[in-house]
Amino acid sequence: MMSRMRVAITKKPAESGARSAPAGELKTACIRTFGCQMNVHDSDRMRRMILDAGLSEVQDYESADLVVLNTCYVRENAVDRVRGHLGQLNRLRREGKVKKIALTGCIGAAEESAELKEQYGIDLVLGTHNTYELAEFIGLPTMRETYTPNLPGVEGRHSAFVTIMTGCNYRCSYCIVPAVRGRMICRSMDDVLEEVQRLTAGGTEYITLLGQTVDAWRESGKRFADLLKRVAEIAPRVWFTTSHPSNMEDRTLRIIGESPSIVKRLHLPVQSGSDRMLKMMHRGYKSDRYRRKIEVFREEVADGTLSTDIIVGHPGETEEDHEATLRLVEDCRFDTAYIFKFSPRRGTEAAEMPDRVPDEVVQRRFLEVLRAVEQNALRQNRDKIGSIEEIFIREGRTRNGRAIGETWSGHAVHVPAEAEPGSYVKARIESAGPHVLYAGEPAN
Ligand code: SAH
Ligand code: SF4
Ligand code: F3S
Repeated sequence: MMSRMRVAITKKPAESGARSAPAGELKTACIRTFGCQMNVHDSDRMRRMILDAGLSEVQDYESADLVVLNTCYVRENAVDRVRGHLGQLNRLRREGKVKKIALTGCIGAAEESAELKEQYGIDLVLGTHNTYELAEFIGLPTMRETYTPNLPGVEGRHSAFVTIMTGCNYRCSYCIVPAVRGRMICRSMDDVLEEVQRLTAGGTEYITLLGQTVDAWRESGKRFADLLKRVAEIAPRVWFTTSHPSNMEDRTLRIIGESPSIVKRLHLPVQSGSDRMLKMMHRGYKSDRYRRKIEVFREEVADGTLSTDIIVGHPGETEEDHEATLRLVEDCRFDTAYIFKFSPRRGTEAAEMPDRVPDEVVQRRFLEVLRAVEQNALRQNRDKIGSIEEIFIREGRTRNGRAIGETWSGHAVHVPAEAEPGSYVKARIESAGPHVLYAGEPAN
């Protein structure tokens, strides 16, 4: 039996230690979100509960009665960050500023949350499957049915995440996600389309379909490509993440190329370029299959961009394996890669594996992969200089006041303009860095 079984999948309601907060005591709440878009989406649902309970949302801890930390458990540094926040919150609580602290999300679903609860005096710990209990804690009647994963996030924004599946049926050696998120559950196509329709009718411009392995989505003979096609017919702008190379159909790649509403960016995590490592990681594909998928993507999707995830220093990774990863990086010409140093997660197979890679070797390999990715990305981004792009403006601005946008090819762009989030501007690309393009003044 795999040692992962030691990790509790979710807190059962009775274990969560929910003590209802006296009604009226809590007037303001602050939600801090860590980790992936799954958590962003869950935070939206909790935000809805908080607003329904009559609390107002604030952005800083100092003015919050209730602080919700929606946490990530994927790597140890995610936990370190949360510890830092918990320490700060405890100080504020001693000063009489913060009244209650809730910890939700993926740490909440792991056994380690019991230690944190004790150590930091957390008032409420919830896992990923009982987030609805927050409702009771803040004085709403228990609404298990109402606050289900099917409930959409807060509406009326320009972009929205639509969850099409939760959990994951893979068992990658290093990964804690299946333990904290459970097995795959697919939402029905009708449900997804209804939500997309409603969001689009309400003015949402940009829909991102979400799931740990979106391409594994299926429903009585229908597969992800069918769902994507339907969504792309309804929404004006569509993206999806995360894809798994074992589930990715060529048909999906063709649909990306053919549909004018789909952003031409594929995020396809490879993890390693070495077949030996891919096998040890239980990824279920060889590097050749991955390369073939990328070839099809390049053929089907003109001007498309490609991103990936890579882990360096998984136990047993030799210099040869590392070189195979560098070769794959050269061959695939990624526009972006999220490179992670292996982090042992309690309860996963890899945490028990021998042949740990020494820290200094991991650091060197990390920098080598990073350099290879960035050099290539910079070269490709420079090729965009001079082109006129239609840029979708996102929420938020850069520190120096520029608008942040995205091209149809999925490039991030900074635009020197007062452009409205959710709108489009046309501008010429004037310069480029490894991570972002810089546009000139918009023409419209
Ligand atoms: N479902 C997605 C990714 C989920 S986690 C997929 O299958 O690709 C996001 C990324 O974190 C992973 O792709 C992996 O690169 C990285 N990751 C996960 N567990 C890790 C660990 N223990 N150490 C280092 N990186 C890890
Ligand atoms: Fe983790 Fe692998 Fe599932 Fe991705 S596919 S969430 S890496 S177990
Ligand atoms: Fe982190 Fe949980 Fe996402 S562990 S990466 S927040 S599914």
